[in-house]
Amino acid sequence: MKHDAIAVIDFGGQYAHLITTKVRRHRVLAEILQPEDPIEKFTQYKGIIISGSPALSSHGEDSSYTKEIYDLDIPILGFCFGHQEIAKHYGGKVVHGGLEWGRADMHIVRDHPLFRGLGKVETVWMSHFDSVAEIGPDFEELGYTLLGDAGKVHHNAAIGSDKLKRYGFQYHPEVDDTIHGDEMIANFVKDICGCKDSWTMDNYIDEKVNAIRRQVGDQSVFLLASGGVDSTVAAKLFGMALGPDRLHMLHVDNGLMRKDESAGVLRMYEDLGLGNNLHFVSAADAFLEALGMEVEPEKKRAAIGNTFVEVFEREAKKLGIEDHLLGQGTIYPDTIETGGTKRADTIKTHHNRVPIIEKMIASGKVVEPLADLYKVEVRELGEKLGIPHDIVWRHPFPGPGLGVRLLCSDGNEDQNACDALVPDLQAAAGQYGLDAIVLPIKSVGVKADLRSYEHPVMFSGAADWNKLVEASGKVFKEVAGINRCIWNLSPNAPRSVRTLRATITQERLDLLREADHLMMEGLKRHGIYQDIWQCPTVLVPLEIDGEGKELCILRPIYSERAMTAAAAPLPTALIDELRDQILSLPGICGLAIDLTSKPPGTIEWE
Ligand code: XMP
Repeated sequence: MKHDAIAVIDFGGQYAHLITTKVRRHRVLAEILQPEDPIEKFTQYKGIIISGSPALSSHGEDSSYTKEIYDLDIPILGFCFGHQEIAKHYGGKVVHGGLEWGRADMHIVRDHPLFRGLGKVETVWMSHFDSVAEIGPDFEELGYTLLGDAGKVHHNAAIGSDKLKRYGFQYHPEVDDTIHGDEMIANFVKDICGCKDSWTMDNYIDEKVNAIRRQVGDQSVFLLASGGVDSTVAAKLFGMALGPDRLHMLHVDNGLMRKDESAGVLRMYEDLGLGNNLHFVSAADAFLEALGMEVEPEKKRAAIGNTFVEVFEREAKKLGIEDHLLGQGTIYPDTIETGGTKRADTIKTHHNRVPIIEKMIASGKVVEPLADLYKVEVRELGEKLGIPHDIVWRHPFPGPGLGVRLLCSDGNEDQNACDALVPDLQAAAGQYGLDAIVLPIKSVGVKADLRSYEHPVMFSGAADWNKLVEASGKVFKEVAGINRCIWNLSPNAPRSVRTLRATITQERLDLLREADHLMMEGLKRHGIYQDIWQCPTVLVPLEIDGEGKELCILRPIYSERAMTAAAAPLPTALIDELRDQILSLPGICGLAIDLTSKPPGTIEWE
């Protein structure tokens, strides 16, 4: 192998691919291997990292992998599931329990090369149901965590055996919320494995351009271009690789866009010199019809994804370019969240990963130059390609647009299931002096690499932001069946909440578009648009205290790669303005802000 390299074994954890990206950032090549790959494949690497997994190590799930890796004289480091597997293999004990979500303080037991240059206490990111209860004879505890609640000690957050060169982290150093995760990964890769930093990204654009030319051959590309940063960067790369005549672009107004979005997108492409073969189609009716009476998130997503393909094929036919390959600005989280690697759970089906597109991919009809990148890398690439800053740093907008921010219901929510959660909820939220109510509607989340579809809790009462976030952490830990907490911004605490029957309609879309517009304008007016990574505005069909028909929820978050996120507070003055503006929109009966990190929530509600 030309470069020193690390093998990352992908057990299907949501962050497995992120590990390779993080290693590569230290200019060391990292490659994904499958757990059942033959042992010969592993011997050429200078180190092995075992990823997390949706499987439970305590139950022996996914345990028939190439265990001969443990016989190799190559350092091995495991994260979460990988950590538990290493502990088990060397005589430790893994139990189902000791779960932790989100940020935790890890106390480092002694100076160790893995933690070189770090403090005695480090913030790490946890997301697990299983834990290592005992370690084997050759191992030592290198770190333990104390979670907020009265100093409860969680042992074996980090373990290691210098003799065997085997190490494990219960947490995820690869996610940005482990504040010094990068340093920990670099310490393993460089100090313990001895890798030299010879792999550079400087020729990345050339590599991509060549890859497009190889894949496309003498054909041409018809690119679905939403106007977001991903499809815009993809358009630039296609233009460089193929020249303007072999690139056609299609912008579809699916009726689920932001206020005045499509006109702005078309102007932007002209300004970027991409107007040569730019086509536009207004297809709002087709999308509304396809969404029909659907209320389930995955069915809505399927309807939207399929309609994109239908519209694309119709337009290609009209233009006489049916032979063109479909171009998409798909990025890595789109694939991983759709369960697109062998073991990953489907958290939600991204619009560019519906089965009909998967089929086209399998038959070589799709080209996606950004499919192994995260948003942060796409933005870096966009800057290198000279795309203006404002475009590169626009908030991401999901392909299904407002369709996944407009929750629907058949009106038959199970109130008894919500009532059953109340005693545990009161015990958890009571100590913070907050009123708490379970909302009779469900939203999508991700817990320990698995999809969840559970109820949100709404807190009412005065508290500072950190206390609210802490209270939400306690609820997630102690009340099963909750994956989101929101804070009521309306003047009164609700006494009764009822779910209403609702589907996607033009009237609801227009209302959400207006609320979203007020939110976006507010962020810009207060100069914080770029500090906030993304800010969905969501409508939930609820009647509160016998009035209105929509609860509006603001979802400002901080993130870097969208695989994790933290709720972002808004300035009080902005909240006051939004309260006045949004509560006076017709039909809105409440306003709240989302306090939920990802995990256990996701960024979008569906
Ligand atoms: P979640 O909600 O899973 O979202 O935390 C992660 C990021 O992905 C965006 N998103 C999508 N983007 N097509 C897209 O192009 C989709 O179907 C889709 N669904 C979610 C979401 O806005 C967030 O930035």
